[in-house]
Amino acid sequence: MANKVLVTGGLGYIGSHTVVELINSGFEVIIIDDLSNSHVETLDSIEKITSVRPIYGNLNICNLDDLLEFTSAHSNIDAVIHFAAYKAVGESVDEPIKYYRNNLNSLLNIMTMMEGLSKKNLVFSSSCSVYGEPKSIPVNEQTPVEPAESPYANTKLICEDICKDFFRNIDGSCTLLRYFNPIGAHKTALIGELPLGPPSNLVPVITQTAIGKRDKMMVFGDDYDTPDGSCVRDYIHVVDIAIAHVCAVKRLIAGKEKTKVETFNLGTGNGVTVLEMINSFEKVSGEKLNYEIAPRRPGDVSAIYADVKYATEELKWTADRSLDETVLSAWKWELYLQQQNN
Ligand SMILES: NC(=O)c1ccc[n+]([C@@H]2O[C@H](COP(=O)([O-])OP(=O)(O)OC[C@H]3O[C@@H](n4cnc5c(N)ncnc54)[C@H](O)[C@@H]3O)[C@@H](O)[C@H]2O)c1
Repeated sequence: MANKVLVTGGLGYIGSHTVVELINSGFEVIIIDDLSNSHVETLDSIEKITSVRPIYGNLNICNLDDLLEFTSAHSNIDAVIHFAAYKAVGESVDEPIKYYRNNLNSLLNIMTMMEGLSKKNLVFSSSCSVYGEPKSIPVNEQTPVEPAESPYANTKLICEDICKDFFRNIDGSCTLLRYFNPIGAHKTALIGELPLGPPSNLVPVITQTAIGKRDKMMVFGDDYDTPDGSCVRDYIHVVDIAIAHVCAVKRLIAGKEKTKVETFNLGTGNGVTVLEMINSFEKVSGEKLNYEIAPRRPGDVSAIYADVKYATEELKWTADRSLDETVLSAWKWELYLQQQNN
């Protein structure tokens, strides 16, 4: 019988790609998503890609009664992947309570629900934002976490601690996955990242500028201590991130984890500057990008990328997709969105 995985936030950006990879790997998937940042049509797209329509519950995980009622109807859950959270850094500064309420309460309720499961295996979505402005790069999982630079990043730090406290005393295990900069979309261009207001992440800004949704874009800072002066990040294809979740779930179900809570960086291990990203985009799309150099943006970390040795050795996973392939998939997704709006 197929192993069963409950995926919260499974209609969102990373969740939907992970659902596809889980189904492709033979898992039975149950999705919970309240559509606060996603569309129910994503379920149709998942079905188009995989020929399987997963069970889906439209509910807010912060409502414990709804969560328990829904999950009690689905026995024998082997693992839970908890993606559901709010993620807009800027919005979290303006509305911190909204972020603490959703991101913390949803995790606490997932844990209450898991107390009733016979198998307590959790994969939690964390972020490289926990490293703040690191003292040296690349960062590995032993690099000390730094005080959070936004309420959003603080929810990830607090949730990591909650996971450690919860799993210390119960018969179960947890994997904390710290994502670097997920970009791109599925090769079918049927699923991808839905823009929630004006994006602040580089790649959606690039694709929206190229398609004409914005006149021009800014490169914030060209005087950092980096190869060309612009900021360095570790951009990783969302499908590579999704596949890492399949590896993490398999490891938990097989009982291969070395400690009750394990942490893995999910990045490519390569730092890419903003200007290199723009070059890659212009090359793969054939579009000329209208951009200007602007002063540094407050709060931007100059350079961060991952040491991925631990994930390579233990999860038996590496990010295989090239930068050009990844950027092209993001462009195809932007073109698909434009087609849908016409
Ligand atoms: N995308 C990134 O750059 C990035 C980087 C690091 C970490 N993360 C984390 O990864 C996870 C997934 O991110 P994403 O980019 O796919 O975000 P997303 O917004 O696309 O997906 C999150 C999904 O969760 C749902 N959701 C939110 N709160 C809910 C609730 N209370 N009950 C039910 N459903 C709820 C939303 O409707 C959405 O579909 C998040 O925890 C995010 O913080 C994302």
